[in-house]
This record gives sequence, structure tokens and C-alpha cells, in this order.
Amino acid sequence: MSIMTFQIPEKIVFGTGSIQTAGAEISKLGEKALVVTGRNSTRKSGALRLLEESLRNVSIGYCIFDDVNPDPDVGTVERGGEIALKEKCDVVVALGGGSAMDAAKAIAMLVTNAGSIADYEGAVPQKNSSLPLVAIPTTAGTGSEVTRYSVITDTERNIKMLLASPGMLPTVAILDPELTITMPSHITAATGFDALTHAVEAYISKKATPMSQMYSIEAIRRICRSITEATYAAHNMKAREDMLFGQMCAGIANNNSSVALVHAMSRPMGAHYSIPHGLANAILLPAVMKYNAPSCSHRLAEIAEAMGIRTAGLSIRDRAYSVVDAIETLYNDSPLEKSLREINIPEKGLAVMAHDAFVNGSTLNNPRMPESEEEVRELYKSVY
Ligand SMILES: [Fe+2]
Repeated sequence: MSIMTFQIPEKIVFGTGSIQTAGAEISKLGEKALVVTGRNSTRKSGALRLLEESLRNVSIGYCIFDDVNPDPDVGTVERGGEIALKEKCDVVVALGGGSAMDAAKAIAMLVTNAGSIADYEGAVPQKNSSLPLVAIPTTAGTGSEVTRYSVITDTERNIKMLLASPGMLPTVAILDPELTITMPSHITAATGFDALTHAVEAYISKKATPMSQMYSIEAIRRICRSITEATYAAHNMKAREDMLFGQMCAGIANNNSSVALVHAMSRPMGAHYSIPHGLANAILLPAVMKYNAPSCSHRLAEIAEAMGIRTAGLSIRDRAYSVVDAIETLYNDSPLEKSLREINIPEKGLAVMAHDAFVNGSTLNNPRMPESEEEVRELYKSVY
């Protein structure tokens, strides 16, 4: 076995009502917290109120930075950093979906490191440790509370920058399934498919390890058995628990073994046409897995049992394709749009997206390497 490394947050707190432990966890890490969140949803859902109660219970100071829009940009991070410095905050708390997490990670890093956040694009090493970060997700999809990644939009260059630094891994992740029950069905399905894509892609990734694969399998098992019920029965707590735990496992797998061609192809859909990340992955996942199947049939076959497929008597090939079919069935059962045309991507846009996906770093992790941009364009066309 080759050398492998494995990283997860120092502490993970999981369970219904665990938001109540936030104050105690945060007070172990600092004296004044900067709470990074969006403008509306955590206020409307009551999550912010619960967090504030928990902070007041331990008498820790805090200030709220609620200026985070979807797809946070360089300006948002810089404003958040200025407030943290002015208010002398020494711990950062992320409350919300992927955008709040992305912004909070970048702010926690920028406060202790010089320059602009744009200087840290890619895997640029940070000189100093970030401020400690406590991440509390209110959606079940990105797994960002257990990853070292942050995506920040650079509005000057009109690109989405991927920042990847071990220093941006949250110190503590607090996962409370109750915070996710207010998610509407479309968002539950889209974010759930993002998580399923993390789990499946990390499992077949060229960077997969036995450690990350354990997490992928657990993620696949829970997400596949519960995504449809969580989508259509919003208050089914068992399904919500499965989804939150599953997406966390998928995030850990992604953090350690990376995603592949589905993500390489979904990112241009977000960058050029503002298609939500989870929806883009959902549309692509069945088609790309069908394309991948001949290159990783043994690995796909290993997933079959976790998906609840009866595999007795099936050949490796048939097991692999039964996984592709099962993913397609879950997608067909979802309320998500079913083609690129339906989400208003013009056919003439496919060539540019294919170029971007072909040169994207995640494509290199895919078990089957497309031989040309044309091959990627054909894949987009198959879901057009
Ligand atoms: Fe993703």
C-alpha cells in the first residue's frame, strides 16, 4: 500500500439538539466569536437564534457578519476580515450552507495571513494558522464543515477560485439534523445529489484510499436509502439524520480523495450559467457514471450492496451497470430538472463548457480520462 494521509476536524459533534453545545465548544477556542451567516435563512429558520442562545449561556462575546450572499466574493471575505480585526474576534463560527462555510473559512484564514484572498487561489500554502473555526451546517450536501476547500468568486477576473489548504479545515464541526428540516424539497434533493456525487466520485477517484472508501460506502448507504424520503417528507427526522450524517461522510471522503469528472463538468455550468452546484451534479451523475463504468467496473460493483442492490448471481459488469441504473432511478424519482435544455443552457455553450471541464484539475482524478474536448462535449450532449 502506498503512503496515505487522512484529515478530519479535531472534533465532530453530531445529533439532534447538538446546536446547544455550540457555545461551550466555541468558548474553548476563543473569547470573542465572529458569526458568519447569510442574510435571511438562518434568521427565518431559527438556527441563528439557537446559536445566539447557546453563546449567551456561556457568556462569550460575539458579533454577527450576515453579509454572505450565495457564491461569496472577494469583497465579502475582505469585509468580514475587517470586522473580525476591528472587533478583535479570535474565533470564527460558520452557520449556514456552503456559502457561509466558504466565506468563514476564507475570513478565518485572511485575518491571520497577509495579502488578498485572491493570492491564495489553488493549493497555495498559508503562512500562519487560521483563526479556529466552528462550522455548523444548515443544509445536507456540501460537507464543507469537514473539508479544507473554499470557493470564492473573483468578480474582477469573473472566475470562481478554488482554495485548498489544510489550515482551512474547521477545528470543530457541529451537525444538528434539526437545523436541516426547513430545507425545501428541491434544495434537499439538489444538495443530497451533491453529497452522493462526492461519495461516488471519491470512491472511484484515482486518489481513493481504503480510509476514504470506508466513508464513501457509509455515505452511499445512508444517502441512497434516505434521499427520496428526505425530499418528499421534510419532517422525517430519520431521513434527515441519514442525509446529514451521509453528507458528512461524503465530505470526509472528498476531503481526502477528491472529486472527479462530474465536478469538473458541473463547475463550468455554475461559472457560465449560474446553475446551482447540486443540480448540475445531479443532471450529470448518471451519464458520467455510465461513461465511467467500463473503466472502474470492479469499484462500481463494490458500491452495489451499499445501494441496496441484490447482487447474488450478477457478474461484475452487471453489478457495475446496476449501480448506474440505481443512481438514475433515484434521480428520476427526484423533483430536479432532467436536462441542460430545461435549465436554459444554450447548445452553443457546450463547447466552452467542454473546454473548461477538459482542463479542470478534477478530470485528472477520473478513472476514465477523456481523450478530447469533443468527448466531453458528447457527454454534455447526452444530457441536453
Ligand atoms: Fe460538490
